[in-house]
Amino acid sequence: MTTLSELQPLHHPLFVQYDVQVHVKRDDNIHPIISGNKWRKLKYNLAHIVQNKNFNGVISFGGSYSNHIHALAFACFQKNIPCMGIIRGEKSYADNFTLTWARHWGMKLYFVDRKTYRRRHDADYLMQLQQEFPHNFIVPEGGSNKLALTGVAEIITELNQQADYDTLITPVGSGGTLAGLITGDINTVTSPHKILGIAVLKEADYLVDTIQSLLPTSAKQHNDWQLFTHFHRGGYAKFSPVDAARILEFNQITGVNFEPVYSGKMILALLDLLEQGYFPKGERIVLLHTGGMQGVGGMIERGILPADQWPMPEQANG
Ligand SMILES: Cc1ncc(COP(=O)(O)O)c(C=O)c1O
Repeated sequence: MTTLSELQPLHHPLFVQYDVQVHVKRDDNIHPIISGNKWRKLKYNLAHIVQNKNFNGVISFGGSYSNHIHALAFACFQKNIPCMGIIRGEKSYADNFTLTWARHWGMKLYFVDRKTYRRRHDADYLMQLQQEFPHNFIVPEGGSNKLALTGVAEIITELNQQADYDTLITPVGSGGTLAGLITGDINTVTSPHKILGIAVLKEADYLVDTIQSLLPTSAKQHNDWQLFTHFHRGGYAKFSPVDAARILEFNQITGVNFEPVYSGKMILALLDLLEQGYFPKGERIVLLHTGGMQGVGGMIERGILPADQWPMPEQANG
């Protein structure tokens, strides 16, 4: 098996000070649009749609700056699969950075209020949606379903060929990526690695159950994973100017760009854990770069991040 992404060593004075070795798995470089965990999670979902004659389209859910919606729109455009995004928020969001591109690639957008959006996992709501669109495959928010886990698990197969390591760290939103890593780890090694998830949203303890329910039976035996729920920095997509400055400084020192909603919160958690003496000396750490750099476009657009300091993402016209 060839590896899809490079495992790159990261250099930082704190890694020397705390005697740890850090690498980053550059899934952000897999594809300019379908980057990071999106590529991994969509791979088998899209294959399922293409192979299954009952389906001729896909429906999924997301917020108005969703990386998943953005990547799904481009992936469907490439494969000529009609797609619809059910978006939390108002119609006026259709012109923002993320959704302008999603529309450009042919995704139909359907805006719903917060109350309706909250029903996105409810069986009765999904059944109603399926009845209305019988030939569309419904992919959950963030793309996190069992098919996604198979794609994410391939990260572990690659890592096993690339390096020996002790701890793997990933940011966590809907839980599919962490669940996929746990699954891949238990299925491919005799002595499982420590896998840490950094929840990027507030009050995320419920995600432990979500992750457990996604895991296949074999992976439920993995008992060396943990979800940290106190590194969210105020909630989803929330961060202080100091947080943003710390991420930017880390980016400048290491030469790798992390964004403040997902991968950057993992970086801040790593720095905090190092300073707390969490890692034993000599620990070999792998960080999963889950992509999502398109989100920076929306934050620059809203004035949340300064354009002269953060990289405006490039987009492919397709
Ligand atoms: C860039 C990025 N990183 C990490 C995550 C978290 O992944 P998951 O939702 O599978 O927990 C997401 C959301 O899907 C994301 O967009």
